[in-house]
Amino acid sequence: MDKSAQACSEELVLSFLAEAGDAFVSGEAMSEKLGLSRAAVWKHVESLRARGYRVDAVAARGYRLVAIPDRLSPLEIGPLLNTHDLGQTLHYFEEVGSTSDVAKQLAEEGADHGEVVVAEAQTAGRGRRGRGWFSAPGKNLAFSVVLRPELPPQRAAELTLVASVALCDAVRDAGVAAGIKWPNDLLHEGRKLAGILTEMEAEADRVHWVVLGVGVNVNVREAELPEELRPIATSLAEARGEPVPRALFAAACLSRLEQWLDRHAEEGFGPVRAAWRERSDTLGREVAVEVGDRSLTGRAEDIDESGALLVRTEGRLERVLSGDVRLLRAR
Ligand code: BTN
Repeated sequence: MDKSAQACSEELVLSFLAEAGDAFVSGEAMSEKLGLSRAAVWKHVESLRARGYRVDAVAARGYRLVAIPDRLSPLEIGPLLNTHDLGQTLHYFEEVGSTSDVAKQLAEEGADHGEVVVAEAQTAGRGRRGRGWFSAPGKNLAFSVVLRPELPPQRAAELTLVASVALCDAVRDAGVAAGIKWPNDLLHEGRKLAGILTEMEAEADRVHWVVLGVGVNVNVREAELPEELRPIATSLAEARGEPVPRALFAAACLSRLEQWLDRHAEEGFGPVRAAWRERSDTLGREVAVEVGDRSLTGRAEDIDESGALLVRTEGRLERVLSGDVRLLRAR
């Protein structure tokens, strides 16, 4: 077998094991499904182990993937992806200024819908409203996706809510209770787990590209956070009490994101709005919202058909298109 065919079968064995999750798969089932001899399956498992994958092999039960190398390169994420577009081209960096800056540059140069930039470390991570974004090197997840949606620019803000719903699902699938603070912060027990930065380039009636930048605190421990973030941020590992395999989680985020983007493209904003409401940590609560240099306080009542937040203040219903929300009372 030539080298590339060998690598390809090895990726197939890995995908098969990854798909089975915590379950064992028999060598026989793999060899039948993948058209490989039992000896070849064994050889691929050995070679995966040499690359840092931990695979249990138990007589009469088969193989089980126990751990994967804690890196986010295409070698780790690629075989775990079950998307048609998102992440099929992955640009990987050990260190970069901001994955969103790289993705924007790639988009300008004609990158395809679904290309992803991922980095182990960012030296100039950016957050919403001109803030910075801290991402512990090698511990967290920072990626940016280039999208080329068929949407008028007025509807592009919907994608921010699409992304928050998808990310919330990926976090919940990882066993962590999470809710969304409008528009797209993910919170666990009131503390921030993840944020999304949406940027776009458009003309009057056409979006050229959207870059969705996603930052998730995955395995950083509270003591490793900058002091000012400790009271307000947390991570999946802190919430779950054990680390989360980053490559698996990255693949799950991309998969959930693609599912929700497809649904949004096919059915419009309605189902996304309903899903956002269900996952909201904001609706029904007393909030303070900074809108430019104005601040308003009231009850967050709903989001409207374009994703704007509706806040009942004394006497009137305010429609907030963009702003910073503070939840005033703990649940
Ligand atoms: C926020 O909550 O303020 C949004 C944070 C978004 C951070 C991500 S990390 C990956 C991508 N690259 C960046 O520079 N920012 C986004």
